[in-house]
Amino acid sequence: MHYIYATQQLNYEDYASGRVLYNMPGTAPFPARLGSEIFERCKAALASSGVNGPYTLYDPFCGGGYLLTVLGFLHGRDIKRIVASDIDNQMVCLAMRNLNLLNAQGIKQRIEQIEKLLKEYKKESHKNALDSAIRLTRTVESRKGDMELDCFCANALNLGEQAGRLDTVDVVITDIPYGRITNWSDESSGSNHAELFLESLYHAIPSHSIVAVVSDKKQKVKSGLYKRMDYFSHGKRKVTIFKFQTVN
Ligand SMILES: C[S@@+](CC[C@H](N)C(=O)[O-])C[C@H]1O[C@@H](n2cnc3c(N)ncnc32)[C@H](O)[C@@H]1O
Repeated sequence: MHYIYATQQLNYEDYASGRVLYNMPGTAPFPARLGSEIFERCKAALASSGVNGPYTLYDPFCGGGYLLTVLGFLHGRDIKRIVASDIDNQMVCLAMRNLNLLNAQGIKQRIEQIEKLLKEYKKESHKNALDSAIRLTRTVESRKGDMELDCFCANALNLGEQAGRLDTVDVVITDIPYGRITNWSDESSGSNHAELFLESLYHAIPSHSIVAVVSDKKQKVKSGLYKRMDYFSHGKRKVTIFKFQTVN
């Protein structure tokens, strides 16, 4: 793929899953550089239609919140609110712990935890994690005020009930289930889950929103309600960026 914004391969080791960011079995990390490129493309699309940041960012398949947390660190100045939901309550709890790292209290607690581990086990990995957490603290401190966070359990194929808490959303960036680590958790809902998801989302978020969906190459990610603005592939993944069909 051709990077337009994240043109340099930076060192993303501070964001490695399990280092400062929490992980657990069944969670799926996401390439930080790719996430950054997607965010920048969505931001450019919003800016070109006159919607300026800071933005509300939403991931309806948030898993452990890895992607959102990394974006919160990398693009915190452009984001004022992060909304995370998942059908699995355990994932929502993990996402909340990860997203809390974006705020002063959360990263301070994480440093205290890592310091205890380092004192007890004297492992090089804990020393590295501490160095990363200190660098991430500087990122948190460089932002003014706390990031607003909202995490909840929801079926992304039925977001209607959540519409009230999604009415500030500007950008959706989401890595939908594709069966390698995670599967769709609503098998009863018919065959094209991606289309059902896009329809459900359409009725829950504002019409100016930009929606980026990451999927495997097999799934058809389309809906007559949206206009495809951008498409590219990255290894086994494809990324499709949409805006609402009704918006010019
Ligand atoms: C690919 S993972 C997302 C990984 C996430 N982007 C991250 O960075 O950690 C997909 C997630 O979709 C969730 N999921 C599956 N079916 C769902 C549904 N119908 N509604 C909401 N979440 C669902 C799973 O619980 C899983 O956490």
